Amino acid sequence: MASLSLLWGWVLMAALSTGANASLVEQRPRWALVRRGQAETLSCFLRDAQYPYMSWYQQDLQGQLQVLASLRFSGDKEVISLPGADYQVTRVDDTELRLQVANVTQGRTLYCTAAKTQ
Ligand SMILES: *[C@@H]1O[C@H](CO)[C@@H](O)[C@H](O)[C@H]1NC(C)=O
Repeated sequence: MASLSLLWGWVLMAALSTGANASLVEQRPRWALVRRGQAETLSCFLRDAQYPYMSWYQQDLQGQLQVLASLRFSGDKEVISLPGADYQVTRVDDTELRLQVANVTQGRTLYCTAAKTQ
């Protein structure tokens, strides 16, 4: 699992290796700092085709974890607006799940995962 942290004011996005799952997906960029209100595009790359369902999750500052989108097929797309951020998730191809984050005004952590089934 890779994760990104978004902080109030400036947005810090960092990849964290969290053990056994760390090699299943790879996030790029590894980290970034973005001004509040600006946009950023993040990509998650799948390294094991046996886990074709790719997902982005967010965890807000209160600790609430929720899925943003789980997408399987190339071209699949989902648009989600949540308090403090607008998201567009796109399954670019078999190995890439792109996350476009806009209008970021609240801190959060973003996680990319992959699974065998939805
Ligand atoms: C960002 O916010 C503006 C103003 O509310 C809105 O028009 C725009 O669609 C938002 N961007 C995204 C990607 O949702």
